[in-house]
Amino acid sequence: MLTKMASGKLVFSFIITLMLIFLLPPSHVVSHSNPGDIKDSSSINPQKVNLSVYYEALCPSCANFIVKSLGRVFNDDLINIINLRMVPWGNAHFNKTDSTVICQNGLDECVLNTIQACAINVWHDVNKYYALIYCIEFLAIEGRHSNWQSCFSSLGLPEKPILDCYNNGTGAKLQALYGYETAHLSPPQTFVPWVVVDSKQLGNDYEKFTTYICNAYKSNVIPNACKSLPPNNVSSSKEENPIHPVCYRGEAKNMTSLAPIKRILVHFG
Ligand SMILES: *[C@@H]1O[C@H](CO)[C@@H](O)[C@H](O)[C@H]1NC(C)=O
Ligand SMILES: *[C@@H]1O[C@H](CO)[C@@H](O)[C@H](O)[C@H]1NC(C)=O
Ligand SMILES: *[C@@H]1O[C@H](CO)[C@@H](O)[C@H](O)[C@H]1NC(C)=O
Ligand SMILES: *[C@@H]1O[C@H](CO)[C@@H](O)[C@H](O)[C@H]1NC(C)=O
Ligand SMILES: *[C@@H]1O[C@H](CO)[C@@H](O)[C@H](O)[C@H]1NC(C)=O
Repeated sequence: MLTKMASGKLVFSFIITLMLIFLLPPSHVVSHSNPGDIKDSSSINPQKVNLSVYYEALCPSCANFIVKSLGRVFNDDLINIINLRMVPWGNAHFNKTDSTVICQNGLDECVLNTIQACAINVWHDVNKYYALIYCIEFLAIEGRHSNWQSCFSSLGLPEKPILDCYNNGTGAKLQALYGYETAHLSPPQTFVPWVVVDSKQLGNDYEKFTTYICNAYKSNVIPNACKSLPPNNVSSSKEENPIHPVCYRGEAKNMTSLAPIKRILVHFG
């Protein structure tokens, strides 16, 4: 399936996706000119920091991270200095025999990963798609993820383009791309949520993403979110004994296959 999907069309949509995600937005790249050529930090072009979050919709630690930790970047000024990239796939994998996607937490997770992938790629606007992701993950925490469609009306966001993306096969292609990307992370992802700041994976330090972002951000203007940080302490232990709960790759107890993806909407009908 993956080989088949790596056709011209897929590569094309991959490039489009990359362009839309990375090439259009950077609004802070151009710095104001600096008369007098003062050789201090003010001559540094502030470059946004890349924050990538590899996750799956129904892993409790992902839901908690998205709602209780990462959501805070929208309340302070951190969102202005990052390119936030959400990658909903996590510990899912392909069954190469019958071309199905198998999600760690079952069928519903495959649906919600795909819906979120569609929201990201249809809307592009992080404020919109994060609102939907947040809403779905909030419901997941409460054990009410099957009410996910209520998020559209409660947020005032249009449901149709997202369901279209889901139903017309675009969602499955996006999932294939996210699956490919996740499988090729270096070092390999071993659990979710898996957080990467620029090219540095945070491992079990993922809750300290703000510290990593602030350390990576080169500008003379220090964001408020960075001013209020505790001393920059970054734990040295990685992978072993995460301090925070995570979902490990391969610990699925109840895998459900999904084929074809279209069949699923009936499930929530
Ligand atoms: C993969 O698909 C084949 C054919 O449908 C099936 O027999 C097999 O059990 C599947 N593997 C997993 C891990 O679900
Ligand atoms: C599928 O739906 C999305 C969202 O409305 C749209 O952007 C895309 O062009 C559609 N693709 C196809 C193949 O119809
Ligand atoms: C952030 O991601 C973009 C797009 O992939 C890349 O061009 C840029 O170099 C990255 N920035 C850093 C600091 O890694
Ligand atoms: C930060 O690290 C320093 C030296 O490693 C240590 O002395 C200090 O207590 C740590 N602070 C916090 C808040 O953990
Ligand atoms: C697997 O999931 C199905 C459907 O959600 C459920 O009925 C079943 O009890 C689960 N099995 C186990 C072993 O958890």
